[in-house]
Amino acid sequence: MKYYKLVLNARNPKGFWGKMMIRSMNKGHYQVTGWGLEHIKIKDNFTILDVGCGGGKTVFRLNEMVPKGRVYGIDYSEVAVKKSKKLNKKEIKNNKVQIDNGSVSNLPYNDNMFDLVTAVETYYFWPDKVNDLKEIYRTLKLKGKILLIFEMLEKENEPDKWAEVEKLAKIKAPKESQIRENLLNAGFSNVKTYTKENISWLCAVGEKE
Ligand SMILES: C[S@@+](CC[C@H](N)C(=O)[O-])C[C@H]1O[C@@H](n2cnc3c(N)ncnc32)[C@H](O)[C@@H]1O
Repeated sequence: MKYYKLVLNARNPKGFWGKMMIRSMNKGHYQVTGWGLEHIKIKDNFTILDVGCGGGKTVFRLNEMVPKGRVYGIDYSEVAVKKSKKLNKKEIKNNKVQIDNGSVSNLPYNDNMFDLVTAVETYYFWPDKVNDLKEIYRTLKLKGKILLIFEMLEKENEPDKWAEVEKLAKIKAPKESQIRENLLNAGFSNVKTYTKENISWLCAVGEKE
C-alpha cells in the first residue's frame, strides 16, 4: 500500500503521500545523483538550474559546489517547492539559491542564463521531451551543459524490469538511444551517455554549441 501511494506521487507530489514521496526521493536519489555529477565539471562560479527539483536535495548539494555561483530549482509541484524552500532556507536568505514553481515546458528564465542544467529522475514525466529539452537549451549559455540522470532505463536483456512502476506512474523507461536522439533533435552537441555496470543507471550530457 505504502509503495503504491509513493509511486503514484512521483509525477506530481501532492498531499500527505506527496510529502512522503519527496522525503524518500531526497534520500533515495542521493547516490545516483552523486554518480551522475561525477561526469561533469562544475566550476565554483557556475549558475545552475535543477529542473524537477523535488525536495531540493540536489539544489542544496549543487549550491555547496558553487561558492561563488548561484543555484535555481524549479518544480511544478507546490509540495515539492515548499519542501525545497524549507531545505534551502538559509541559502535562499543569502540570495544564493532560488526555488520557483513552474514547468520544464515553460521555464521562467531568460535565454543564455545557465552554465549547467541538471534533471534527476524527472525526464520520464515531461510531456513533450524534445520541446522540453529545447526549452532547457534556450536557457543555457553558449558552451553550457545539460546533465540528465536516470535510474530507470529500458535494456534489451531486461525489457520488463520497470513494468510495474511504468504502469502505476504512467511512464516509460527510455532506451539509451532515445535519450541521445532526443538531445540531438533538441539541438544539443557533443552528446555523451554513461551507464553504470550491473545496474540500469544512466546519465546523459549534452552541450549548447
Ligand atoms: C521522481 S521526482 C524526482 C525529484 C528530484 N529530482 C529528486 O531526484 O529527488 C520527479 C519530480 O519531477 C517533477 N516534475 C515532473 N514533471 C515536471 C514538469 N513537467 N515540470 C516540472 N517539474 C516536473 C515532479 O513534481 C517531481 O518533483
